[in-house]
Amino acid sequence: MQKPSPEAEYAFHDLKPDTLAMAAEVLAGLRSTPKHISPKYFYDAEGSALFEQITDLPEYYLTRTEMALFDAHLPAIAQLLPKQLCVVEYGSGSSLKIRKLLESLTPRAYVPVDISAEHLEHNAKTLHADFPQIAVYPVGADFTQPFELPRAVADLTKLAFFPGSSIGNFDPQDAAAFLRNVRHTIGAEGALLIGVDRKKSVDVLEQAYDDAAGVTARFNLNVLAHFNESLAADFNLAAFEHVARYNKDAGCIQMFLRSGVDQQVTIAGERVTLQANEEVHTENSYKYHPEEFLDLAGGAGFTEVSRWSDARDWFTLYLLN
Ligand code: AVI
Repeated sequence: MQKPSPEAEYAFHDLKPDTLAMAAEVLAGLRSTPKHISPKYFYDAEGSALFEQITDLPEYYLTRTEMALFDAHLPAIAQLLPKQLCVVEYGSGSSLKIRKLLESLTPRAYVPVDISAEHLEHNAKTLHADFPQIAVYPVGADFTQPFELPRAVADLTKLAFFPGSSIGNFDPQDAAAFLRNVRHTIGAEGALLIGVDRKKSVDVLEQAYDDAAGVTARFNLNVLAHFNESLAADFNLAAFEHVARYNKDAGCIQMFLRSGVDQQVTIAGERVTLQANEEVHTENSYKYHPEEFLDLAGGAGFTEVSRWSDARDWFTLYLLN
């Protein structure tokens, strides 16, 4: 066990993502045509646990392919980065990935940023206990909006870390805006390590988002349970069905919750009507050819340092600065 260095510390910064704003956003989405829900609401404690299960599914190749890229290339990535680093993780996701990164890069500080404060604090505390030499400053915030980094990391070079092809969950315009925010947050000296899923056979893609064991279906439906709990809503989960299909024109997998019946639902005291077979769009997962992704990142002020792909060219890890 390494001894903590004198400067290593732990401090939680909760920027309190606003429940009223959440209710307003959810209601607006369910009153528009077509109806939609932001995928950021998947990740309450139960949704985060279900997502962890998805990453182990035989059909969901993304996580294990990206992990293999980390195993093969993290030493080379470490060589390309300065030593006085602060890793800023967008979403405090699979602790396995961040563990591999922290072990290889040994940064001075680690800033996980996540909307789910509960999940964030738990992961951050565990990581701080296991890497006591690294200062940990979790930030509870909606990272789709601009946010401030803790002052304590002001003098360190930032490495933004956005694994798992989470960039695919933004529409291209929002992805461009997000990348511009990242550029702004990490400054001109900062770098970005990002994992991006690629276009491939429709069968492979659709099975990855509609697994035989039904875990992805439970993950999708759980967003309604999250609203029942956080927004005093009364969704009956049994009255909805999970749907996932690839949209070739848009280049993304799309997930929906299809209402099985005509129904009315109450959310934060307000009523919403759904018709039988009406689909509520819950998620896009865009897939990018490398040229497409580099074009998007280039528009946000990033240039390629290096990239690594698996033998099937299913997934690519990019280091950009
Ligand atoms: C988190 N994100 C990258 C996942 C994806 O593949 O788009 C979320 C997910 N949705 C269904 N399965 C996994």
